[in-house]
Amino acid sequence: MIPKIFEREKITEEITGFLQQVDIFTGLKKKDLFQVARLFNQTYYPRQAVVFFQVEKGDHFYVVKSGSVKIFRLAEDGREVILDVFTAGDFFGEMALLDDDTRSATAQTREPTILLTLNRSDFQELIQRRPEITLNIITVLSRRLRQANAVIENFAFQDARGRVIHAVAKLGLNYGKPSPEGLRVGLRVTHQELASLAGTSRETATRVLLEMQNEGLVSFKLHHLVIRDDLETLKKLAKRGE
Ligand code: CMP
Repeated sequence: MIPKIFEREKITEEITGFLQQVDIFTGLKKKDLFQVARLFNQTYYPRQAVVFFQVEKGDHFYVVKSGSVKIFRLAEDGREVILDVFTAGDFFGEMALLDDDTRSATAQTREPTILLTLNRSDFQELIQRRPEITLNIITVLSRRLRQANAVIENFAFQDARGRVIHAVAKLGLNYGKPSPEGLRVGLRVTHQELASLAGTSRETATRVLLEMQNEGLVSFKLHHLVIRDDLETLKKLAKRGE
């Protein structure tokens, strides 16, 4: 049997290797990263497991190691509004730790997922001790606020078709990889999820996707969405609601 202490060292090595590719830890030397990795625990969640509920008290900060997590709020009529979907390398759960309030949304896995977790006091100590990590976190939060602003604008001024097109553009921006056919969205989303991102019904999301396919704006390859046009054109189309 391998003694527990060696097992833990092995996990820390593995987490260090992973954290090297995570945006918010860029700029840290390997030995510093190893110290950071020591603070993390690794937890496995099956598909559709709730990591935490909105309005719960929050005690952990999370980094997605593999799999994916959706962040959503429930509207009064019970409909889900998806704020974002996070995949490997993304973090979440920082807000309740920073402002000492309750969770602002619910987090649920979309597939079997491994999360790295950091407890409140270690997170607070880390951001006080390592300003480069704090700055990286602020950069990501600024990007998320920009995207949230764009969503607010879309919800206020666009019809359902425009919102679906915008949600497709957002998926392209966050998960798109160039391919010979166009921008291939690495994340597989269901029509219901697209509808929840766009604040519309599944039927409408399906209809708009079909229209977009007929117009040659998107296609599907092995169940992955491919955006044929560039994102700017797509966003302009969304604005005009065409
Ligand atoms: P927290 O409020 O602790 O728990 C829910 C988490 O969801 C929150 O921290 C953020 O990490 C994340 N979150 C909340 N709102 C948004 C948003 N509009 N866009 C992206 N992520 C969000």
